[in-house]
Amino acid sequence: GKGIAVLTSGGDSQGMNAATRAVVRVGIYLGCKVYFIKEGYQGLVDGGDNIVEASWSSVSGIIHKGGTVIGSARCKDFTTRPGRISGAQNLVDRGITNLVVIGGDGSLTGANIFRQEWPGILDELLAQKKITEEQRGKYGHLNICGMVGSIDNDFCGTDMTIGTDSALHRIIDCVDAIVSTAYSHQRTFILEVMGRHCGYLAIVGGLTTEADFVFIPENPPLPDWPQRLYLALVGALASEADYVFIPEWPPEIGWPTKLCSKLTQEREAGQRLNIIIVAEGAIDRNGDPISAEKIKQVVVDNLHQDTRITVLGHVQRGGSPSAFDRVLGCRMGAEAVMALMEATVESPAYVVSLDGNQAIRLPLMACVEKTKAVAKAMEEKQWDLAVQLRGRS
Ligand code: F6P
Repeated sequence: GKGIAVLTSGGDSQGMNAATRAVVRVGIYLGCKVYFIKEGYQGLVDGGDNIVEASWSSVSGIIHKGGTVIGSARCKDFTTRPGRISGAQNLVDRGITNLVVIGGDGSLTGANIFRQEWPGILDELLAQKKITEEQRGKYGHLNICGMVGSIDNDFCGTDMTIGTDSALHRIIDCVDAIVSTAYSHQRTFILEVMGRHCGYLAIVGGLTTEADFVFIPENPPLPDWPQRLYLALVGALASEADYVFIPEWPPEIGWPTKLCSKLTQEREAGQRLNIIIVAEGAIDRNGDPISAEKIKQVVVDNLHQDTRITVLGHVQRGGSPSAFDRVLGCRMGAEAVMALMEATVESPAYVVSLDGNQAIRLPLMACVEKTKAVAKAMEEKQWDLAVQLRGRS
């Protein structure tokens, strides 16, 4: 049978175990030898006990567990060619030419580089007599299939990444819990949720909990413009500008003003509390971070509301996966093995994506490139473009 290995890389997420389990069981069912690579790419580079054959029962009782039972790491060594050469040797030694990587876009890009370098690396290993002619001939091509495990839902090409749904469950549980204490004390709470570059958790978390205000990286509000106005005014005076915006005639208001008027409006309508959700990567239109602390300062200084901050942090990434993420992991894992079994030398590296209700395979690098284009657009402050590129995810 063919040799398949599975590894999880980068930040963990709920549902990775379901995906690992599906890879193992579908692989064994199809007559393959399936291997776990423990501790992500580090285990691939280090080899030894990190690469072990999986059995049907070795993945029993893991579907309900959060995180990844085979371990994950952010690995520096694999970003170097010597690290990848060592990884290739470890795979060839075991007859593995099919690799499933469950991780974020960085991990999947690494997998693609590995695949492209594979023939050259094998030539090098042969020249150094570390593999035989026979091995060079037999294992000359590496097939790759990726799955995106990330709570952030930040990958282009898939409707949902593995873990996002569970993180949302955790977020709404937390907000519901906060609401009861906020109500009692008539408080305002600022909840920081994860999402370095992606506001999906914040926006869906906000929608599903009736938050009053949400800050996300993709739609940065204007900063407090009257402050900028002062600079504009002085700048204009000093440079004979033709046009100046003045406070008495605001073109658009900044986020502090908008936030405060929304909170006031809700309180005047009889609400005893306010909930504000801020994605950890939220910024304003100048590119300056909008932190929970900054928001608190605005609320306290302007409205004098009793205000607290709760940072949900890694709670969002932990705990058991939702039904959705378990099924998603199962489907994607099965599709990944099928993609590998059907791969030819001509086929590209694939990533399994969710399209509506179907797990489908897409060319990995096209999705990675699109994801990188989103990051670039955000860096260049072209937020509308970023949202457009991100599309359905
Ligand atoms: O998985 C992505 C993510 O959840 C980000 O939103 C967050 O910034 C990051 O992981 C934190 O990960 P770690 O603590 O593992 O570096």
